[in-house]
Amino acid sequence: MEKKITVLPGDGIGPEVVASAVKVLQAIGKRYNHEFQLSYAAIGGSAIDEYNNPLPDETIAICEASDAILLGAVGGPKWDNNPPELRPEKGLLKIRKRFDLFANLRPVKAIPSLLGASPLKSEVAENVDLMIVRELTGGIYFGEKHRDYGQASDLNIYTREEIERIVENAFELARLRRGKLCSVDKANVLETSRLWREVVEEKKELYPDVEVEHNLVDSVAMKLITNPGHYDVVVTDNMFGDILSDEASVITGSLGVLPSASIRSDNFGLYEPVHGSAPDIAGQGKANPAATILSVAMMLRYSFGLQEEAAEVERSVSAVFDDGYYTADLAKGNSRTLTTDEWTDRVIAEIDTNFVAD
Ligand code: NAD
Ligand code: IPM
Ligand code: MN
Repeated sequence: MEKKITVLPGDGIGPEVVASAVKVLQAIGKRYNHEFQLSYAAIGGSAIDEYNNPLPDETIAICEASDAILLGAVGGPKWDNNPPELRPEKGLLKIRKRFDLFANLRPVKAIPSLLGASPLKSEVAENVDLMIVRELTGGIYFGEKHRDYGQASDLNIYTREEIERIVENAFELARLRRGKLCSVDKANVLETSRLWREVVEEKKELYPDVEVEHNLVDSVAMKLITNPGHYDVVVTDNMFGDILSDEASVITGSLGVLPSASIRSDNFGLYEPVHGSAPDIAGQGKANPAATILSVAMMLRYSFGLQEEAAEVERSVSAVFDDGYYTADLAKGNSRTLTTDEWTDRVIAEIDTNFVAD
């Protein structure tokens, strides 16, 4: 198979974790005889520095000509006081909107050998396997903003159609998993949430095999860490999904292991870790590349339909953890702490060894 992938390293640890993920992608390409053609482009703070634009037209054109996008992370203190249009994060929001990547899939799966790294009790975190389906191109992130004198506002706006397509997506996923869907809102206060709930109620008639519950976001924030095993698919709006997914990283032990896929209906997608540019550890070889490597697995699975290859990436990542190798964010006690590159090399060795054994 031949595929064109646009690589957007971004800022902070973005380039470090993307370099790791690209190495793993190439190792998979070599082993399974696929050709992954990579084109690099700028986004975020580095694009502001070079083009005075967080999402340059050149970057959009390169993405348009590709089959999928791999992104690191954007942002950092250098650009934190920039005007809104010249913030790194604006580049990320624009690319999501520009390519209509409305469905953000954020799987949270407990890795058995990492249970000790989670502050949660093992019996709470073990066997967790849930999927947060976050609406990504609407809501308060994209509503009109105003600022004058002593006032500021952000409009939280959703159309019925925007809610329908993400909810359908979540129902379809639940059907392929354990058949449970939890819709998260704030319907006791917000009108957008009341519309959201109405749409879920309508759609559930079409999915009688899926068990649906509605839950308020404040209570889910609590239950997600006291009883995460309860959840299968969790569907929610843009902002609630952002917050709940970082919270869910506590279950796995580190934000550094959570991948994500931002997709639309035709399989085109942008793949990126859930975490940000981590300026506090950038340039020190401390970044955990697992989230970005696992995002590559999601790319192989969702955009290219390469199930076996995706599973091999996931297996190799787990195997390295099982062998007791961690980056600094997960290292505890007498475990062996590796740098980003050393840890990545272990994953690649794992892929290679598996093939020699065959
Ligand atoms: P962050 O996710 O960058 O970091 C939060 C904490 O987790 C930090 O202590 C960091 O060191 C740690 N961490 C994150 N990823 C890690 C990894 N792979 N390995 C080891 N440790 C890791 O969030 P923040 O500090 O609130 O934000 C920093 C910048 O990143 C901001 O500019 C923010 O806007 C941006 N951001 C970007 C994205 C994105 O590009 N998708 C996502 C979130 C935040
Ligand atoms: C994420 C990030 C982004 C978001 C920011 C950087 C715009 O936090 O991808 O989770 O809020 O969507
Ligand atoms: Mn976030």
